[in-house]
Amino acid sequence: MGATVITRTELPLPLVRRGKVRDVYAVGDDRLLLVASDRISAFDVVMHEAIPAKGIVLTQITAWWLAQLPSDIPHHLVSADVDAIVRDVPVLAPHAALLRGRAMLCLRTEVIPVECVIRGYLSGSAWKEYRAHGTLAGERLPDGLKESDRLSPPLFSPATKAETGHDENIPVSRVINELGPARAAELESLTRRVYAMGTAAAEPRGIIVADTKFEFGVRHGRVLLIDEVLTPDSSRFWPADQWAPGGPQPSFDKQPLRDWLDVERAAGRWNGDAPPPTLPDSVIAATSARYLDAYLRLTGHPLDPALLPSSPT
Ligand SMILES: Nc1ncnc2c1ncn2[C@@H]1O[C@H](COP(=O)(O)OP(=O)(O)O)[C@@H](O)[C@H]1O
Ligand SMILES: [Mg+2]
Repeated sequence: MGATVITRTELPLPLVRRGKVRDVYAVGDDRLLLVASDRISAFDVVMHEAIPAKGIVLTQITAWWLAQLPSDIPHHLVSADVDAIVRDVPVLAPHAALLRGRAMLCLRTEVIPVECVIRGYLSGSAWKEYRAHGTLAGERLPDGLKESDRLSPPLFSPATKAETGHDENIPVSRVINELGPARAAELESLTRRVYAMGTAAAEPRGIIVADTKFEFGVRHGRVLLIDEVLTPDSSRFWPADQWAPGGPQPSFDKQPLRDWLDVERAAGRWNGDAPPPTLPDSVIAATSARYLDAYLRLTGHPLDPALLPSSPT
């Protein structure tokens, strides 16, 4: 039986939203089922094709990190084990094969509308702004930094949560205005702690977590870490042995896709917006292999084959 790739789910629960990657369903009043599809986006455009195993890798990496969080950093995950989820939510029983490995039962929160980005290296939109203006979210950075240079200490670099299109970097002062100084300080402190945990675990495994994005939500007045955590989709993972500031760095996961899209764009076959071009099978396969390798490199063990779509059931 074994499901193949999943681009979209139709579960017998109220649909809360379809995000770029996850389908989100309500489970009763105060829980959510997050189902990571194999959809992939690059340069903020969702591709038509799905990447085998990607949603499973993202879910399993998040669950792996959350299991290691110190107990004073509360998070939303109830269970990522499909058997336990189905026992809890029996209406999902007929969908267990599809959900295996890729579903998370979570506590529902009110999402705080700030992307809590932290940057240990100068890359992406931060590099673009710095190169043009010497600033990040309008605030001066030291002179003479190169692309992909290390930022020490890491920069808390919040962004708006844009419904569509590109997130916008915003100054910390705006977070303070919108959420109040106490909440803003709490988010920055949690962001720094979880990022520090991530870099401490990833560095000995040869992975630089150049930057990452966390989301937080409020439940009964308490801030919880929600969404995905320190995954290749929410972070820039670089091979440490290839790190060479002065240019962009290869990414563990999306590099084959990004490189191919760059060629299409340079050749005038893609304008950089939706609709995306049709991906060749070789790019799909290479990208899938990269996600599985990211799981292996990070956790030190291969993904449980029982979770993989092609495994016999
Ligand atoms: N515990 C939670 N409570 C409420 N919302 C959550 C929770 N965890 C994740 N979410 C939301 O679920 C969605 C996940 O889907 P995703 O595909 O990542 O969306 P996006 O396109 O916004 O990145 C996000 O909008 C995220 O804010
Ligand atoms: Mg997301």
